[in-house]
Amino acid sequence: MTGIICGTGSYAPSYIMDNNEIATMVETSDEWIRERTGVATRHIIKGETTVSMACEAAKRALADGKVRAEEVDVIIVSTISSNVILPCTACEVQKELGAVNATCFDMSAACSGFVLAYNTALSYLSGGMYKTALIIGSESLSNLTNWKDRGTCILFGDGAGAAVMRAKEGRMYLPATHSDGIKGNALTCLSRHTPVDAGHMTDPEYYMQMDGQAVFKFAVKRVPEVVNEVLEKNQVDKEEIVWYIMHQANSRIVEAVAKRLEVPIGKFPMNLQEYGNTSSASIAILLDEMKRDGRLMSGQKIIIAGFGAGLTWGAAVLEWEP
Ligand code: ACO
Repeated sequence: MTGIICGTGSYAPSYIMDNNEIATMVETSDEWIRERTGVATRHIIKGETTVSMACEAAKRALADGKVRAEEVDVIIVSTISSNVILPCTACEVQKELGAVNATCFDMSAACSGFVLAYNTALSYLSGGMYKTALIIGSESLSNLTNWKDRGTCILFGDGAGAAVMRAKEGRMYLPATHSDGIKGNALTCLSRHTPVDAGHMTDPEYYMQMDGQAVFKFAVKRVPEVVNEVLEKNQVDKEEIVWYIMHQANSRIVEAVAKRLEVPIGKFPMNLQEYGNTSSASIAILLDEMKRDGRLMSGQKIIIAGFGAGLTWGAAVLEWEP
């Protein structure tokens, strides 16, 4: 028994912020941002929330998979930037969808979040606990961004992606995942609920802070390792993989991973040019785009790989079925 993705959906805010707009806030330029990150624009919430984007992406995924809300047994939302703590984002999605039979919870694993939500759902489906799962990555990173810090504000964007998964007879591919809390200082953000003196909201520690070069080095070393690990674990050759779908953090990271793996860059689709880094939403948004434009086809083997704060990283092999 395994689990397959049978429907995808995504949502991006209509407001688009380009690099020139960022250059009005910090000392930078369109040229610098494109060259160092690959990002040209990002979608930024104007009225939307992490919950509203999750709901919209989820509705589109259910429609795409022709799954009724009442059929969903479990909803898992991965987010580090929800507008709600209680009730959790997944329960808010349940309410909006009318997914009355679902068990709902959120998880927090930053940019590895969608891969870990996928793995969690897969283990439920393959183990027989549930038959239908809805997994969502939704992020309003603009709320956690220090718009005065040019080392980070150029990178991130907002959006949501979702996938519906069904239990099905078939081959179960084992994922490979890791965490290293000791190196967690490379990318941090204090909770706004940490008790501190009044006025704390202006403190930079309440926004994402990053040692960019440390994160870069971590990603280009660990991602190829975990991709090779997941291939070996499942006895799959890298040539069998049609698409390597990486977390969309930075085009230079994706290019370095492709080079280290000695896989043509054409097998590494990217949409970070448009969205920036949307953390746990990025892989789901890209899957949805690729499904809609026909790049993802039945029978293809693909790899999804996430990496980010924690530090956390992981990869999974999927056989595309819808
Ligand atoms: N515009 C112009 N100049 C800048 C900017 C900017 N936005 N940011 C930094 N600089 C300057 C620096 O001050 C420095 O100047 P100096 O040489 O005079 O000191 C110079 O550019 C080089 O700075 P670096 O930090 O060395 O630049 P780098 O090439 O490392 O690029 C970047 C910075 C883009 C952040 C890069 O390190 C990176 O992409 N790291 C990975 C980040 C990432 O992907 N994080 C997310 C993954 S985890 C998650 O998704 C939550």
